[in-house]
Amino acid sequence: MDSKLKIGVLVSGSGSNFQAILDACSRGELAARVVCVISNKADAFALERARRAGIPALHLDHRAHAGREAYDAALVATLREFGAELVVLAGFMRIITPVLLEAFPMAVMNIHPALLPAFPGLHAQRQALEYGAKLAGCTVHFVDAGTDTGPIIAQAPVPILEGDTEETLSARILKEEHRIYPEAVRLFAEGRLSVDGRQVKIT
Ligand code: GRF
Repeated sequence: MDSKLKIGVLVSGSGSNFQAILDACSRGELAARVVCVISNKADAFALERARRAGIPALHLDHRAHAGREAYDAALVATLREFGAELVVLAGFMRIITPVLLEAFPMAVMNIHPALLPAFPGLHAQRQALEYGAKLAGCTVHFVDAGTDTGPIIAQAPVPILEGDTEETLSARILKEEHRIYPEAVRLFAEGRLSVDGRQVKIT
């Protein structure tokens, strides 16, 4: 019997966070297995990463579905087909509906490149720079019905340096993303996370 946590990963782009989780699994740091990677974009490099690792890589085109709920129902069907127990959003550029959330209660995670609740939504790194913040960072959270509003699992601060551009800041934040996302998934896999309202308790 495979006692490892089965993870379904949703992506839209490069998939470097997916890669970090995959690498942590390969190194044996994470009692988990990625069972499928699903992208709404056919050309997402994340799909190529999955293929190279021998993981089922699927393109599910959101434009082929009648609306967000219908698309999420297709995602749920595919995730169930592969037996996913945890859904990891890794640069998945779609708004999630209750159709997905109710199928995986407190089992959908996301990473956001800001210290939430500051700078939710798109272009978080640019928002932080334009605001003149001195500190940026990243947040892993459970997904709820809002945009980047779910209970926080892990955060890491990253300094904003003079002369930073969106690119240099994003790269510095990404390094921390690759550290804390596998760590948050590990805590979930070990059954060490419990949610009480907004509080995520780690035991
Ligand atoms: C990351 O910055 C993540 O925080 C955001 O989208 C980006 C995805 O990067 N949600 P990657 O596809 O994991 O390389």
